Amino acid sequence: MANSASGDSVTERIVRVLETFSTERTVQTAAEIGRRAGLPSSTAHRMVAELVASGLLERDGARRVRLGMRLWELAGRGSRALRLRQAALPWMERVQARVREHTQLAVLEHGEALFLERLSSPTAGANITRIAGRLPLHASSSGLVLLAFAPDDEREAVLAAPLLPVSAETILEPQALRARLAAIRRDGFVVAEGSIEQVSTGVAVPVRDGRGPVIAALSVVLPREAPTAGAVEELRAAAAGISAALGSAGR
Ligand code: PHB
Repeated sequence: MANSASGDSVTERIVRVLETFSTERTVQTAAEIGRRAGLPSSTAHRMVAELVASGLLERDGARRVRLGMRLWELAGRGSRALRLRQAALPWMERVQARVREHTQLAVLEHGEALFLERLSSPTAGANITRIAGRLPLHASSSGLVLLAFAPDDEREAVLAAPLLPVSAETILEPQALRARLAAIRRDGFVVAEGSIEQVSTGVAVPVRDGRGPVIAALSVVLPREAPTAGAVEELRAAAAGISAALGSAGR
């Protein structure tokens, strides 16, 4: 890929432009995109115009820009996320109908829990999770499950880096975290009280690809004082159902 005067490739610059969008920052001007992507203004305006022409970005009436429907379309085609989400949705709906709080599906992605889906009843309690948003592995219930079953090198990399608090109750000492992860591998679930927000408890279980490796975490977010045993049973049954669906689906 051709390089610019500053040495970065076209691909790198496109990725930098797309990465200026987040779950909180969904609409920007071309000038803002350029500033955040570290691109000269003229380059930013040209790239945004080209990306709008291709449909990867879209412009609104005020000439502000958001990620395009075409990007969603391409990303969905045959991706691992789509296959997993399709297998999981009927089971997530069952958990959601029975537990009536938040039900969510996450995968391990570059050292964080990335959320592929979230179902929430209108009356459900607090929850900071966003679809296509991320939470730290050591703090969220899904993240703890993904970390417990992660490849050794990925787990050690997380344990070696400084662990930042999300709430006053987030586990920050590597030894305490190791013990917690061992307990998750032994028990097959985690109940994380107040680890993300003082008012909630996350409950999560691993989801295996058929009979193979853990590829996702299925979780519910409950009000802090809610009982958790029923949720653990629902999540376990759902995870087994998702694994069976993945195992029988044509690969
Ligand atoms: C969790 O998974 O532990 C979790 C996630 C989001 C919240 C609270 C807890 O808002």
